[in-house]
Amino acid sequence: RTVYAHSGAAELGPYRHFMQKEIFEQPRAIGDTLQGVEHISPELFGDGAYKVFKDIDSVLILACGTSYYAGCAAKYWLESIAGISTQVEIASEYRYRDSVPNPRSLVVTISQSGETADTIAALKHARSLGMEHTLTICNVSTSAMVRECKLAYITRAGVEIGVASTKAFTTQLAGLFLLTLAIAQTRGRLSDAQEADYIRQMRHLPVALQAVLALEPQIMSWSEAFARKHNALFLGRGLHYPIALEGALKLKEISYIHAEAYPAGELKHGPLALVDAEMPVVTVAPNDALVDKLKSNMQEVRARGGELYVFADADSRIESEPGVHVIRMPEHYGALSPILHVLPLQLLAYHTACARGTDVDKPRNLAKSVTVE
Ligand code: AGP
Repeated sequence: RTVYAHSGAAELGPYRHFMQKEIFEQPRAIGDTLQGVEHISPELFGDGAYKVFKDIDSVLILACGTSYYAGCAAKYWLESIAGISTQVEIASEYRYRDSVPNPRSLVVTISQSGETADTIAALKHARSLGMEHTLTICNVSTSAMVRECKLAYITRAGVEIGVASTKAFTTQLAGLFLLTLAIAQTRGRLSDAQEADYIRQMRHLPVALQAVLALEPQIMSWSEAFARKHNALFLGRGLHYPIALEGALKLKEISYIHAEAYPAGELKHGPLALVDAEMPVVTVAPNDALVDKLKSNMQEVRARGGELYVFADADSRIESEPGVHVIRMPEHYGALSPILHVLPLQLLAYHTACARGTDVDKPRNLAKSVTVE
């Protein structure tokens, strides 16, 4: 195990790797990131935010990797709760393409390090097109990204050493949810009662996350089977499709198993041809409006001999049966459910990588912060 110059083995405490430690730090990281948020207000994002939020008619999110997937989840919140049109772009694509600028768009960058070259370049490209309303969700207050943006929300995940991002992702989601509520409020779409209810749900998150982490032993029992696979599919619908994307990236990044995520409704448009007994299908199954559609997608997989691994919400009637492995989440969590559902996928990737003996904290070919193109 590599011992890091700035954090010795003592920093690991009872954990085997920094990634495992950081997965288990998420209740504290979320609590710290939301600390002191008694009320929703644009000023959480800096002086002048109210005027900016009043002026904008859309949001453009720019990010890479895991941070891009946080933006993909935020799109569902921003459009359904704040009623504002939202576009999410991969920074390395946006920075080079001839896009149509909109000066009334809020450009939101998401970055753990605040030093990712592609994201900084994409931000500068947007500004060169006259888009001056800029805001970043970032984990390093002294980073270039924070200096380049007018507004900011600093997540308090603490130093993230594992190359594979975990606590940075969930604290980014917390910051993006606050942004959604602040824009909704500015646009007259957040009643006092709704504000109080969302604040209560956010306050309860650390306890809810702790309960999800207690699933680790059940997830470890799946990882032995996963460690022998060469491919995997991740399925999610709606707000949880970005969570399936993030789960597939985690597995790819640290266990080197090829994994792809699809919106569950896309299966019959091609990916179903991939499904056989050797292709495990991980399904994010919150008990939301789409759960019945998801169940029929799962039957399509079973009918082709695919092995299903389902993270089902407490009250969804999805039961284990031959070929269908179910781990039950402790509670359904409404709009904030993605923050809970990503934890078991982080743990599945982590324990599968451990079973395969890869270098979990420093996976091959990857750097923690991609500061060059
Ligand atoms: C995620 O696990 C990876 N480490 C990588 O995709 C990362 O999210 C991406 O490079 C963006 O980094 P940033 O958040 O520091 O900008």
